[in-house]
Amino acid sequence: MELKSVTIRNFRALQNVQLRDIPSFMVLVGANGTGKTTLFDVFGFLRDALTGNVRQALDSRGRFPEVVTRGHENEPILVELQVRMPIAKFSRLVTYHLEIGLEQGRPIVVREFLSYKRGSYGAPYHFLDFSRGSGYAITNEEDFRKPDEDLNREEQVLESADILAIKGLGQFQRFKAASALRQLLENWHVSDFHISAARGRKEATGVMEHLSETGENLPRVAQYLYESHRDVFNEILSRMQQRVPGISGVEPELTQDGYLILRFRDGTFKTPFLDRYVSDGTIKMFAYLVLLHDPKPHPLLCIEEPENQLYPTLMGELAEEFRDYSRRGGQVMVSTHSPDLLNAIRIEEVYWLVKAEGVTQIRRAADDRQIVKYMDEGDKMGYLWKQGFFTGANPA
Ligand SMILES: Nc1ncnc2c1ncn2[C@@H]1O[C@H](COP(=O)(O)OP(=O)(O)O)[C@@H](O)[C@H]1O
Ligand SMILES: [Mg+2]
Repeated sequence: MELKSVTIRNFRALQNVQLRDIPSFMVLVGANGTGKTTLFDVFGFLRDALTGNVRQALDSRGRFPEVVTRGHENEPILVELQVRMPIAKFSRLVTYHLEIGLEQGRPIVVREFLSYKRGSYGAPYHFLDFSRGSGYAITNEEDFRKPDEDLNREEQVLESADILAIKGLGQFQRFKAASALRQLLENWHVSDFHISAARGRKEATGVMEHLSETGENLPRVAQYLYESHRDVFNEILSRMQQRVPGISGVEPELTQDGYLILRFRDGTFKTPFLDRYVSDGTIKMFAYLVLLHDPKPHPLLCIEEPENQLYPTLMGELAEEFRDYSRRGGQVMVSTHSPDLLNAIRIEEVYWLVKAEGVTQIRRAADDRQIVKYMDEGDKMGYLWKQGFFTGANPA
């Protein structure tokens, strides 16, 4: 599954933006307040709307009037995704369209549809189409050869107008696109990693395969890799040894009272250190390695400023690790202020954000003739960025 484009309207500073031709590894640059965090939060918002409902997703962000772009209070918030996904053995470009409005003081789904072309020709067909709590879904999507009138439409009424149709219908396998999309939205990972949360002893009940967004389950995921994917764990260790001077090993340890702790071994000393006494950068590097070597990559991974706490010379390897992850099937989006990281980034991977009249505009580095020319001559993205190339709202 691959996210190909995103259109956003009236979501905070993202009054009207479109990301097109999204690469499998994408890097966002832009001054403070240009909307990088907001863009990632659109993904978090969709997931919250799916796991709870639209009202809850808005409430936790200060409610509709706070989230909708200032000066556009009477317009709906719109998010439209285009995702390439296999449906009934064919690869399809599926559009998911979601419009949220405020009616009589309550947020509701004004329109929600899923569409894709049934064959190589013709207009995209709506396989699911809902408005204000009711609509229809097609139950025999896989019958591509049947004429439109033979498709089975199932009329449905949702429990309330602030619930996403893909939430209910997505649970049923027969709604192919809805269930694939639901899985995508549920499983993307918008990192909110806190070193302090990752440290310390953790209850050791149950297996945890994926690092959580805050990273608080780091010892448990490390233990899972140690026990069930030893090759992956060993690969992580060997990278730690190369990158963090002195580190010779990391060991998950189960205490007698049923807690898990991580110990970091320094070649110079006999007794390993508790994670609590290890540097921030060491914990962070270990956490990124655990995240990026996940045997089952997330369909989409968003990370803000991954450079923080890490040594600048490690940025090239980190960029390569993001790319490896994206090659294994998980798309990666990162924001950065690091010239060192940018120096390891290709022109087609860079998108930059600027604010114009209070709202965000998004540009692709590859569309700027000057930047293309300098990169062709062997320059690097980080140097160009430092020289102020990514500031203008209107590239040549
Ligand atoms: N409802 C809104 N309408 C318009 N702009 C908003 C709204 N809510 C927040 N903003 C603006 O969005 C910006 C925050 O962007 P943010 O995503 O945090 O930027 P970055 O992560 O790039 O530093 C701020 O400048 C803030 O004023
Ligand atoms: Mg930010």
